[in-house]
Amino acid sequence: MEIIIQPTPEAGSIIAARIIAKLVRTKPDCVLGLATGSTPLATYRELARIHREGVLDFSKVTTFNLDEYVGLPPGHSQSYHAFMDEHFFRHVNVPRSRIHIPDGMARDIPAECARYEAAIVAAGGIDLQLLGIGTDGHIGFNEPSSSLASRTRIKTLTERTRADNARFFGGDLDQVPFHCITMGVGSIMAAREVLMLAFGANKADAVAAAVEGPIAAMNPASVLQMHAVAKCIVDEPAAGKLTRRDYYRWVFEHKPGWQKIGG
Ligand code: PGA
Repeated sequence: MEIIIQPTPEAGSIIAARIIAKLVRTKPDCVLGLATGSTPLATYRELARIHREGVLDFSKVTTFNLDEYVGLPPGHSQSYHAFMDEHFFRHVNVPRSRIHIPDGMARDIPAECARYEAAIVAAGGIDLQLLGIGTDGHIGFNEPSSSLASRTRIKTLTERTRADNARFFGGDLDQVPFHCITMGVGSIMAAREVLMLAFGANKADAVAAAVEGPIAAMNPASVLQMHAVAKCIVDEPAAGKLTRRDYYRWVFEHKPGWQKIGG
């Protein structure tokens, strides 16, 4: 895994946006896997800014989001449909027909999960999957003990994740759903490239376990150690418990010119 340590979330997000923008320019019909939560917000803002400047065209891009709450209709303010619209899709030009988010209102949830997996395959697979990491090491909503080979399915959120996310529901834990549909760990691993972002001291333990700990279902993000093209962008507080952080900085500073992440 390539670890990129930046002084601030803003600086890390600019690098993430540059990586995504470069992919969209070199492969205009690429398939992006997208994430929700507070972590990717600045990346989406930066991508929208580049798009507004007229130098980034999403018209041929296809997107698949990681997850959605079960039982929240797309119009619900805390659904991930609404989240993605507010923070990304309304600011760029991804055609509606190319946007995919699991349907948390599906009557037949296993059928919806199978349909979602098939749609990813039909689109040619995900070129780059953007990820956050939960304080418990989840990616998507794959909570600790998730099968590392899992595919899109229903999951029950841990009490910790529900508490972490209560802030989006006005702090009211009772409003946070218990279930979600999430791409599996195996679905994420099938992406050709993975880009995980983590900012803030509350992510330091999860990041250290994911990057330097053993590969274990108890920290689903640790499976990214087995991915051939995985980058992890962290700010200083999130990097705080990495024992080899000086080495990761040294690697980033000494990249050969052709490998540098340009503007
Ligand atoms: P956050 O969530 O970005 O809101 O911290 C990350 C996650 O749960 O994956």
